[in-house]
This record gives sequence, structure tokens and C-alpha cells, in this order.
Amino acid sequence: MAVLANLNNLRNDTPGCAHVTHFNNAGAALMPQPVVDAVSDHLTLEANRGGYEAAAAAADELEDTYDAVAELLNCHRDEVAVTENATRAWDMAFYGLPLQEGDTILTSEASYASNYLAFLQRARGTGASVKVVPRDETGAIDTDALKRLIDQNTALIALTHVPTNNGLVNPAAEVGAIAKDAGVPFLLDACQSAGQLPLDVEEIGCDMLSATSRKYLRGPRGMGFLYVRKSFMEGLEPPIIDLHAAEWTGPASYELRDDARRFETWEKNFAAQLGVRAAVRYALRLGMDTIWQEIQDRARQLRLRLSAIDGLHVKDTGAVRGGIVTFNSEKLGSAQIKGRLATRDINVSVSPPSSTLLDARRRNLPPLVRSSVHYYNTEEEIDLLIEALEEMHL
Ligand SMILES: Cc1ncc(COP(=O)(O)O)c(C=O)c1O
Repeated sequence: MAVLANLNNLRNDTPGCAHVTHFNNAGAALMPQPVVDAVSDHLTLEANRGGYEAAAAAADELEDTYDAVAELLNCHRDEVAVTENATRAWDMAFYGLPLQEGDTILTSEASYASNYLAFLQRARGTGASVKVVPRDETGAIDTDALKRLIDQNTALIALTHVPTNNGLVNPAAEVGAIAKDAGVPFLLDACQSAGQLPLDVEEIGCDMLSATSRKYLRGPRGMGFLYVRKSFMEGLEPPIIDLHAAEWTGPASYELRDDARRFETWEKNFAAQLGVRAAVRYALRLGMDTIWQEIQDRARQLRLRLSAIDGLHVKDTGAVRGGIVTFNSEKLGSAQIKGRLATRDINVSVSPPSSTLLDARRRNLPPLVRSSVHYYNTEEEIDLLIEALEEMHL
């Protein structure tokens, strides 16, 4: 196993590593100390000085959040909005797109439940429809089928980069090239890929991208962000506005801001925003290429070890696979496994079929155990997980 040169330091820098064996990084990863400090220091400042006064004192650092995210995504700071979570970021883009009767939304089988629910809701309201692009033999979106399905009615391509229940990494840049060729807007759900693998919106070619703070980025809960390409911003009306998104210019008029903050609200969790900034800066310091290699390495090891246990079935698909490792057992239910691991302070989660209904039905998936690795997980921790599972399967 390739090891980050400073793995011990990284673990010492992560308070949770002393208490739990954490394989729930796709749920919420363990925050490193600089993230915890950024959040709690600001809360203390708010308590001692007042919330508005604390925000004024931290104005430069709050602004730097946009620079940090822009660096992470290779975009301009004006193309970044800081939101409450990935779903609201995605919603602000999706519900802002003009849709009309006859329009089609193309998406993949790996679609996340909340996104698909929004497709269905808007389809009901507008007369647009959703078409699901089939998978290829590896389980990824079939890009040839995608090309064939695009026609003059295609209003949007919406792709989940890394699904919530699978190691699969969808070929986002290939999809971006197809979308660009066809002149179709491309919305990428990067909720599970942000902080896990390098994201470059120029290389990917997406017009909009949503992500969350608490997962692979190791930021605090209740934060996310949205990228909207500058050239795309004009045509994207925020579905909800406030006095931060727009200026009230007269009794019958308002003007939207011209940057991506038109998708934000005025009131925010500033402490958490500073946590996002710290988390992104932390990831950038380590380097996204290194992080991605380390995560793939750990996940490869874990899959190999799991496959050797009689009665366990690894369910991941895809030619490119990341840190989400899913499996089920012939002997025990996934919730039972999660519960038994919890008694040993080993954290995993369970992915229910309803979180990715299309994929679950296609592959006939039961609830899956999701053991998602991060670069700070060690070989010894993988041993602990495997030993526990082996004991359960004796
Ligand atoms: C692929 C994917 N998209 C979107 C989301 C929603 O993210 P959030 O809970 O931050 O809104 C999740 C959460 O698990 C996810 O896995």
C-alpha cells in the first residue's frame, strides 16, 4: 500500500482517528483539526463579539472561501456560490433552467434520489420528460447511447459523477465533450467526487457543478457549493431570490447580481463557511492527485480482502473505481453488519435501494454495506474491518 509520507501526522491532525475506525467517508468524513478550529474559533468570536461583528472581522477569510473553491475546481471565484448542502446547490441550478413541454432531460442509471425526484417534479409541472441513458458493460453511462439519445428536444444532461452506492466513477469529461458538441447544458453532481478526485471544470466541460462539504472534502456538515460557468449564468434564473441575490431597485424592479452568489442566501452559517475554506485549503495542500491515488489504493486493497471472505459479495462496478466500497452478505443483513461493526467502533453506513432506485432495480440490489475509505485510513484499520467481518462469517 502506498502511504502518504506524512500519514501519521495527518492522523494526529484528525481527532476522530483516536476514537473510531472510520469507513463512512462517503457519509461524512472525519474533520481535520484546522477545520474544527476554523469553525469553533469563529463560533467563539460570534459569542464574544456578536455575529455581524465576527463576520466583519473574518471578511477576508470568508472571501477566501471563493478563491479556495475556485482553485479546487479551476474556475473563477465569481463562478462559485456557497450553499447549505449539495442538494440545494444542485437545486438552485436545476430549478433555474428553463424547461417546457416536450423537453427531455438525459440522465444516468446512477442518479441520486433527490436529483431524480426533482426531475420528476419538474416533468410533472412542465410536460418535460426524463430519459435514462443505459449503462455500458462496465456499469458507467454508455456515452455512445448518450450521443444517440440527444436530439433537438434535449434540454439538459445531468450526471452523477460518483454514485452514492458504488465505487463507479462516471466518465464526466467524455460526457462534457458530447454535451458541448451538441450545445446541451451539462449539470454534474460532484457530491461524492469533490475532495476525492481532481475536478477541473474546464477539462470536464460542465456548465454547472454541485458538491458538499462534509464528505470527501472533510469539511463541516450543512455546507455545499455550486459552480456555474460565467457564460451560462445569464440564462440561469435563480428559482428563489433574496436581497443578497438581487438588488431591489424600485417598487416594480430588481436586478440580479451578475456573479454566482445570485444562487446564495444572505444569511449563512459563517463558521461553517470558514470550515469549508479550511477543508478545501487542506485538500489543496495535500494535492488532489495524491489524495486520489491514495484513496484508490486503499479501496483496491479493501475490495480484494472483502472478495476473499466466503459469503460476502462486493457490488462495485465501473472501469474506474474510487473510495466507495459496497458489499452485501449471504448470512447477515447490511443493517445487522453495520450494528455489529459499531460495537467495535468501526463506522460504515448502509445504502438503501431507494437512494439509487434505478441502479438498485437494474442490479437487483438489497441494502448494501457502504465502507468508504479515505487517505487517512490505514492498512491496520482495513485489517480490523476484515477481521470483524470474518468473525461474523465463520
Ligand atoms: C451522489 C450524491 N449526490 C447528492 C447528495 C446530496 O448531498 P447533500 O446531502 O449534501 O445535499 C449525495 C449525498 O449522499 C450524494 O451521494
